[in-house]
Amino acid sequence: MHVLITGGAGFIGSHLAQHHLALGDQVYVVDDLSTGVLANIDSFRGNPAFRFAEANILDWKGLDNAVAWADRIYHMAAVVGVKKVLEDPVAVMETNMTGTERLLAAIRQSGWNPQVIIASTSEVYGFNTSGSFAEIDYIVLPSAGRLRWAYAVTKLADEFLAFSYARQYGLKIVVVRLFNTIGPNQVGHYGMVAPTFVRQAVSNEPITVYGEGSQTRSFCDVRDTVVALDRLAGCPEAWGEVVNVGNDQEISIRDLAELVVRRAQSDSPLHFMSYKEAYGEEFEDVTHRRPVLNKLRALTGFSPEWALNDTLDDLIERERAKNRRVA
Ligand SMILES: NC(=O)c1ccc[n+]([C@@H]2O[C@H](COP(=O)([O-])OP(=O)(O)OC[C@H]3O[C@@H](n4cnc5c(N)ncnc54)[C@H](O)[C@@H]3O)[C@@H](O)[C@H]2O)c1
Repeated sequence: MHVLITGGAGFIGSHLAQHHLALGDQVYVVDDLSTGVLANIDSFRGNPAFRFAEANILDWKGLDNAVAWADRIYHMAAVVGVKKVLEDPVAVMETNMTGTERLLAAIRQSGWNPQVIIASTSEVYGFNTSGSFAEIDYIVLPSAGRLRWAYAVTKLADEFLAFSYARQYGLKIVVVRLFNTIGPNQVGHYGMVAPTFVRQAVSNEPITVYGEGSQTRSFCDVRDTVVALDRLAGCPEAWGEVVNVGNDQEISIRDLAELVVRRAQSDSPLHFMSYKEAYGEEFEDVTHRRPVLNKLRALTGFSPEWALNDTLDDLIERERAKNRRVA
């Protein structure tokens, strides 16, 4: 199979590339390296089944040819992460909406009908306070001007673009609402919690917990996520649908911090920081966020294989190995 991955030098995209190369597929990655890094794809670059284009999805000249080549497309390119979204909301709106529209228009014009995964996010559930989210639940977004929600709004727009193209042109598109994903290659600079906690614990620095740490999240290992996405893309019943993807085991951020400290046998104390200090006045956090996975299970039979402890142990070991290389 020919697999095109936009944003394929990023965290999830690079695992998709690895997964498909291991299956013997041909993989073509496009990435502008804005948050993705070459180190994530370095190990594939000598592989004749792998191709990389450093380009921006907004003006990539090779898009039409790549789309016409692909049997499967994973659209992962996006401006991601709470910090980035607050720093550069215009880039978020442009990349996340215009990029998706450009891709979908290219697919339609190609006359070809590849399987397509469009990455959305649990953030689209917005300020819905039910804590556990199924795909049919209402989306609650603030009525005006809260830029903290710009990312969610762009992803919701992507969802409706995808549904429109799927309905009107019969495209084989699955929208995936990804919940918190963790694993190797994820970086902490853009506000991602697990890599930040692991780095802090391994170097015995204080672990920064926002608020009181009572907010809960559920973390899915990226190596499980890519299996779910692969199955969904190839599942005709999923085409035209939106599906939650994640792990439904919940943990509070404070408990996560303590768990990381224990697994790393670290001396790090917990340091609590207000959201205002961390992100400025405008920030609102969602207290509980757990995916309802009935639809994913019914469509694919998926169940995650990685337990949180195993993912954390793996991340801790990789962080130590990285520090040894630097030293
Ligand atoms: N990681 C998570 O927990 C999570 C949760 C929900 C949704 N998602 C979605 O999954 C997708 C992948 O996220 P990730 O965590 O791997 O983030 P990431 O930042 O590692 O990956 C995004 C990639 O897109 C690239 N990119 C950004 N703008 C681009 C552009 N204009 N042209 C080409 N490439 C561009 C970046 O360089 C990066 O490599 C995103 O669409 C994100 O919204 C991720």
